[in-house]
Amino acid sequence: MLSEQTIKIVKSTVPVLEVKGTEITTVFYKNMFKKHPELLHIFNHANQQQGRQQAALANTVYAAAKNIDQLHVLIPAVKQIAHKHRSLAIKPEHYPIVGESLLGAIKEVLGDAATDEIINAWAEAYGVIADVFINVEKEMYQEAAEQKGGWIDYRDFIVADKVKESDVITSFYLKPADGGEIASFLPGQYITIRLKMAGEKFMVNRQYSLSHMPGNEHYRISVKREAEPDTPEGRVSNYLHDKVQAGDIIEATAPAGDFILDQNDHNPVYLISGGVGITPFMSMIHWIANEQPEREVHFIHAARNGNVQAFKEELANLKGDLKNFKLSYIYEDPTEADLQNSHFSKQGYIDKQWFSENVKDKQGQFHVCGPVPFLRAVVLGLRDFGVEQDHIHYEFFGPALNLEEN
Ligand code: HEM
Repeated sequence: MLSEQTIKIVKSTVPVLEVKGTEITTVFYKNMFKKHPELLHIFNHANQQQGRQQAALANTVYAAAKNIDQLHVLIPAVKQIAHKHRSLAIKPEHYPIVGESLLGAIKEVLGDAATDEIINAWAEAYGVIADVFINVEKEMYQEAAEQKGGWIDYRDFIVADKVKESDVITSFYLKPADGGEIASFLPGQYITIRLKMAGEKFMVNRQYSLSHMPGNEHYRISVKREAEPDTPEGRVSNYLHDKVQAGDIIEATAPAGDFILDQNDHNPVYLISGGVGITPFMSMIHWIANEQPEREVHFIHAARNGNVQAFKEELANLKGDLKNFKLSYIYEDPTEADLQNSHFSKQGYIDKQWFSENVKDKQGQFHVCGPVPFLRAVVLGLRDFGVEQDHIHYEFFGPALNLEEN
């Protein structure tokens, strides 16, 4: 239990953190990686360079400080992060390293303003916050270990097949190298894969949504080749496309993530994706086709054109299994063939007007996934159109951001 005095001090520093938060976390990462370079095997360097991880951590620290006397309100947010931590094999012993580096950064950035009293209060508060994460993650590790076919940490997978889905998206079918069973997953979940790329000093890891029906003997991930091969974002996806071949070994952790379909819900469901954001919806739509074939489903996909879009045939084939299925494609720059596609709905972008013309039931469940500008437009558009907040579910590529900010 934190004392009244500690709570008061921690809360009173929130305004300072809000101004200096990102500066503090930037110094924190720099110092932490200098002292513990082994952590560079764990962190995603692309997110670091874009500053997104710093922003995500800073936002969480502010939220924790504001709620330090009622940390239970943070549990849903903690769970989402804990899924990511569990899928990256983050362990309790990592927390003191982060704590020490964070306190050091607060001292360095605040200078004389960081009195011993403030630093001690934050040390105590960090301990409490870290325990919340450690306990939530402990349960997740236990679940992963106890699940049929489940495992903890990384396991070797063989690339059993590599299938081109569009000009820019390729699927990888992964089977466990030990020939054993694999854990099933909830539609919408992701796995972390880890690989050693030739010429790179550190291992790299990435999260990819599972893009197929749960309950198979393999996992399928579908990766978009990012346009710039020399940027940190592009390096891994281009390596996967160009260098990783059937028969190669990739490590993976067990499925994780809370962007999932509510399997007990029977209301109409809208699956709205931009670009490679289509992937989690492939596992959802296959699951619905299998388990709730009568359910009203609207699959709405936006892409530059049909040449870069994956799964056109797979989706068209599902029409026979789903009794109430509406497929709509919105292309920014459609080809002649796209204009002839019976599912072509609009040239341009998805917007409030499209919703008002095509969405009958605001009580449905709306799931959205895609790049940040797409998410922002669709999620804010749905709110504007009058869909209640708790009917809108979305997932970012990479660390979560605040959609209201530019
Ligand atoms: C991701 C917060 C401790 C490693 C994240 C994210 C947040 C966060 C907000 C972004 C989640 C998302 O993807 O939306 C925190 C807080 C911590 C903590 C508040 C302490 C109380 C740790 C520790 C480690 C760690 C101890 C390991 C040394 C990571 C990594 C990611 C991550 C590797 C993914 C980053 C990426 O993909 O760039 N954490 N974290 N975190 N965290 Fe933590």
